[in-house]
Amino acid sequence: MASVLEIQNLQVSYFSREVRSRPVLSGVSFDLMPGEILGVLGESGSGKSTLAASVLRLLPPNGQVGGGAVLFEGKNLLQVSSEELRQIRGNRIALIFQEPSLALHPTIRVGEQVRRVLAAHQSSGKNDLDHRTREVFNRLFAQEADRILRSYPHQLSGGQRQRVLIAQAIACNPALVIADEPTAALDPVTQMEILRVFRDLREHLGLAMIFITHNPALLAGIADRILILYAGQVVEWGPAETALRSPKHPYTKALFESIPAGTGETEKSRKTSLPVIPGNSSPSSLPRKGCSFEPRCPVRMDVCREFEPPLVKLGQSHIVSCFKYKE
Ligand SMILES: Nc1ncnc2c1ncn2[C@@H]1O[C@H](COP(=O)(O)OP(=O)(O)OP(=O)(O)O)[C@@H](O)[C@H]1O
Ligand SMILES: [Mg+2]
Repeated sequence: MASVLEIQNLQVSYFSREVRSRPVLSGVSFDLMPGEILGVLGESGSGKSTLAASVLRLLPPNGQVGGGAVLFEGKNLLQVSSEELRQIRGNRIALIFQEPSLALHPTIRVGEQVRRVLAAHQSSGKNDLDHRTREVFNRLFAQEADRILRSYPHQLSGGQRQRVLIAQAIACNPALVIADEPTAALDPVTQMEILRVFRDLREHLGLAMIFITHNPALLAGIADRILILYAGQVVEWGPAETALRSPKHPYTKALFESIPAGTGETEKSRKTSLPVIPGNSSPSSLPRKGCSFEPRCPVRMDVCREFEPPLVKLGQSHIVSCFKYKE
């Protein structure tokens, strides 16, 4: 089966005052199959949002892709024309961001906002657009669809607004949805509700998804595979069940141990409870050579200080970047 998305050796840097930073993404490679949900996990600053933005060439002006390829349905999005890219954005690939209240227009009814997304990409008549809009709202809001369609964002709860954003994202039947911390601003009960929505969409619409989070607990039961980023590099990538049950990379292990089970966290507890792994990954504290995690690694060896760790294949599709697993 052909992949929906294949990222090859992606490298991204930011410039500040004309000076290029060390890469914030480096050598990032993975693929995504149709209908697959990939959970991307990593602490603040690991490059998760940069990865999401790079796929659709939505990096801020000081961001620059230094190399690699982003193959979507076989086309390299880093090379297609802006016109072609516009057709793909929102239509074939949709993005969902963290903060629902910022993403919606405050004075336009939410039904109309979803309808506009459809109208921007489809040349169907008014009736078709109305019909499709209602269909999408029915899927996300069942019996409440009529009322929600006519509401303004401020009349809705955080969870309902997030559902409206999901409605916008799936309106055009995309092949891929990228959700960047889509539940981070929500309370735990609503988080679970939104996760159920994503699960349901995957089951019924079969869309592929990249689900970005800093919370491993959110990935159990939703992700098929998990990719762990540390300081812009893939340290582990494998089937969710295996990676969650028996993580291999020392960073993944530490990350899973540091976070209490369950999803019961608020924005406040997120800020105060992390990081529990001693040390940090800010650019200034990363080593100049060797493994980026070496200064914080509880099982580091001499070699880790000198050389970049190899990508080691464990079993069919589990990859870990660590000398500990080198034969
Ligand atoms: N516009 C920018 N200019 C310069 N540096 C940036 C810019 N945006 C992000 N960075 C840096 O790039 C690195 C990766 O940032 P990114 O936002 O992708 O991380 P993240 O994993 O999404 O973090 P978070 O969990 O906090 O959302 C960080 O070191 C960040 O400071
Ligand atoms: Mg981010």
